[in-house]
Amino acid sequence: MEKKILFPQIGGLVHGGDYNPDQWLDRPDILEEDVRMMKKAGVNCVTLGVFSWAAYEPEEGNFHFEWMEKIIEKLYQNGIYTILSTPSGARPAWLDGRYIEAMRVDSRGVRDHHGKRHNHCMTSERFREKVAVIDRMLAEHLGTHPGVILYHISNELGGECFCPRCVQKFQMYLAERYEYDIDRLNAEWWTSFWSHHYNTFSEIEPPFENGETSVMGLNMEWKRFTTWNMNNFMQFEIDVLRSVTPDIPVTTNFMGLFGGLDYRKMAPKLDVISWDNYPCYHNDWETFTETMSDTAFNHAVMRSMKRGKPFMMMESTPSLVNWHKVNKLKRPGVHKLSCVQAVACGSDSVQYFQWRKGRGSYEQFHGAVVDHAGTDDSRVFRDVAEAGELLKKLAPVAGTTVSTRAALLFDWDNRWAIWDVKALGQETKKYERTCIGIWQEFMKLGIDMDVVGSDEDLSRYDVVVAPMLYLLQPGTADNLRAFVERGGQLLATYFTGYVDDAQLCYLGGFPGDGLKELFGIVSEEIDSYYPSDRNGIAMKDGSRWEVVDYAEILKVQDAEVLGTYTDDFYQGSAAVTCKSHGKGNAYYVAARTSAGEMRPLFEKMLADAGISVRKLPEGVEYHVRSGEEGSYEFYLNCNTEPVKIAGVNGLDMVTDREVREEMTLPGYGVAVIRQ
Ligand code: GAL
Repeated sequence: MEKKILFPQIGGLVHGGDYNPDQWLDRPDILEEDVRMMKKAGVNCVTLGVFSWAAYEPEEGNFHFEWMEKIIEKLYQNGIYTILSTPSGARPAWLDGRYIEAMRVDSRGVRDHHGKRHNHCMTSERFREKVAVIDRMLAEHLGTHPGVILYHISNELGGECFCPRCVQKFQMYLAERYEYDIDRLNAEWWTSFWSHHYNTFSEIEPPFENGETSVMGLNMEWKRFTTWNMNNFMQFEIDVLRSVTPDIPVTTNFMGLFGGLDYRKMAPKLDVISWDNYPCYHNDWETFTETMSDTAFNHAVMRSMKRGKPFMMMESTPSLVNWHKVNKLKRPGVHKLSCVQAVACGSDSVQYFQWRKGRGSYEQFHGAVVDHAGTDDSRVFRDVAEAGELLKKLAPVAGTTVSTRAALLFDWDNRWAIWDVKALGQETKKYERTCIGIWQEFMKLGIDMDVVGSDEDLSRYDVVVAPMLYLLQPGTADNLRAFVERGGQLLATYFTGYVDDAQLCYLGGFPGDGLKELFGIVSEEIDSYYPSDRNGIAMKDGSRWEVVDYAEILKVQDAEVLGTYTDDFYQGSAAVTCKSHGKGNAYYVAARTSAGEMRPLFEKMLADAGISVRKLPEGVEYHVRSGEEGSYEFYLNCNTEPVKIAGVNGLDMVTDREVREEMTLPGYGVAVIRQ
């Protein structure tokens, strides 16, 4: 397997983070000290200029890049590379004062005042003109510096704008999408309901909070449009940069499972995927292991957007944030553990927000490598320097990837449709949690599933789980059928195949689009439970699963029944089925049970696919990265107590010791075994 190293200039893993020297331009002594301390902390790259518009262009047309050029040069001379951001994430006051259209309009039709950040109108021509000017100058003045290795587009793109320009653009988008055929739109949006018929595209408004929110097709198209328009804005910034410096790769920092944009539609425009990782460590509603494994899932979502290539953890905190409900410090050992987790899951970078704490404003108490005390003799600084040392040792891992033959289908359109659907229990839909729970159960078996969209090529996988796939994209059913017919092991659950991509219900029985035949069942009804309601499933192997939240009543056509309901008026009817297609199997689990209870089915699917599992002690994560020179096994002990792990052989790159058969990992300890 070929290595895909992201930055040959660095030649290893990236260590660094957001650096805001523009907040310290009157303190050259501090800027000097920063470079010394960065070297001490093993920092080899910083992200510059994320919010520097007002410093670059304090008045319209009056540009100053010289201060930043000096900083980039100084860092470069000291072996520190730059990720250069475009400054479009926050606008100077003069810009909003002069070009009011740059400010967003909210979902009640009220225009924002100037302030905050991440809140521009993606459509405004004036705003785009201003961005084009500054991005071009940025590329010309700074992008040509040899220290600049990556562009970072804007910051955490997201949000919606309901201004008249966006409304008009939405109407044009719809006209093109529906090929100027308003009858087709009316049919697909089922507007004969409640007299919601449109005569022209210009009558359509987005789903204003105080307007039309009862047409599912409209709500979905507005979300798709918002992604399309944001993507269009991002591409516009990329085009400007590429016209000056075509060889510098680009990224933008995603926000994990943020639901406002379909990141998969944006990924192809980026050279590398990056994301900002801020778990709520040590909270009081879940175990630390659970927090860690939720993070692992997020990493997998990012990794899977560009398979075969490392991603970047663009931001994380070295200690605490200032915006969680409770801002708790990372306990000793957790910093290293979380850094190694990112690498284990396929990241080639560990980056922080931020290098140095500012003195004032909103983020003055957000964690940073250097605190207000300004010293390198602090717990956090030592933790970061220790991580820096370790990342240097792990340099050979850079460019290797996590590869897997198992995938979980997790679809953005499906997410949006489930959020919006008026059905089930409004508080128990839990699409994300259901997907994450199943993914984590596979992780406990040592399997790092890819997380893919329902329209993606499944030919590289042998095991696919598609939970609650309520909405089917065109082609999804064919994709699943081809997968099973090729010998794949597929598992679907209750609430599969109810609607097409316009959210129109399939007629003739669920799951639609030919999936009834694939699974050999028809789902006739779905029962939603109150939180205290329970049912059970008696499995053929003698085990009993507990049912919560949802239970579908099935009519079995030609599938084998593996489990039946134990209670209620559908007692004895099928709850778990399997239909074989040659070597392929299509499992259907008609009710919500815990992922742990489904584990034997997962194990059977993996065994039938010839994939071996690796069972580890409770609370230990296991990930493997591989490349042409071999592979690296990562073991992360998320427990506070030491654990013994058997069946480990090779050189531990953390301790530089050879491990034979068994090792003991201390609480929060990590090992990286080179094979
Ligand atoms: C991120 C953002 C950073 C910083 C950080 C604080 O969402 O990109 O600029 O605000 O949060 O946690």
